[in-house]
Amino acid sequence: MPFPLLKKTLLLSSVLLLAGQAFTADSSKQLEIDENSFDCLGAMTQVGEFFVSNLLGNLDETVAVASSETGGKYPVGSMVSLIPSEVMVKHQDGWNPETNDWEFFELSVSEMGSKIAVRGTTEVVNQFGGNCFGCHTLARTEWDLICGTGHGCAPLPITREQIHAMQNSDPRCEMKE
Ligand code: HEC
Repeated sequence: MPFPLLKKTLLLSSVLLLAGQAFTADSSKQLEIDENSFDCLGAMTQVGEFFVSNLLGNLDETVAVASSETGGKYPVGSMVSLIPSEVMVKHQDGWNPETNDWEFFELSVSEMGSKIAVRGTTEVVNQFGGNCFGCHTLARTEWDLICGTGHGCAPLPITREQIHAMQNSDPRCEMKE
């Protein structure tokens, strides 16, 4: 393909890609994630208060960072969830430096599975009206935007009991094969 035409084609395809998502991120560093990428919490690995998995099969490293008492950088493919409707997924290095390459998801979950209500970087707002990034970015650097307890984040407006109740009633766990 002659160079000017190639350039035009590349330009056009990046415009099209940007049109498909309302936030800026390097789409060449993006993992493919759709509603089938998400699992019932019971199918994930529990570490302390939250649940993790790894979309690329690197569960050991994700669990190692999640269990670390000194923090660390989560590997690409890491998926983290506290309550069924809120999930963070780590894209490839350089996808979006501002969020440490994390994408935030607000899901609506039912016995039919997961539907993506909102996804993105710094602008995603949850069902309680809070901005995911706004709270999670307060975690001290070594925690890679993971709030846990005592990492410096603004607290959630729900009690530990309410969190456990939501974790224990994930409707997706009732899904028929
Ligand atoms: C008001 C601040 C706040 C908002 C808004 C918020 N979070 Fe959190 N999030 C927290 C805190 C604090 C924790 C730790 C809770 C705990 O275990 O006590 C947490 C926990 C989590 C966890 C488990 C890992 C961790 O960081 O401890 C995930 C995943 C998560 N939130 C994703 C999201 C997503 C996705 C959104 C938006 C759709 C969101 N959060 C909105 C404060 C917030």
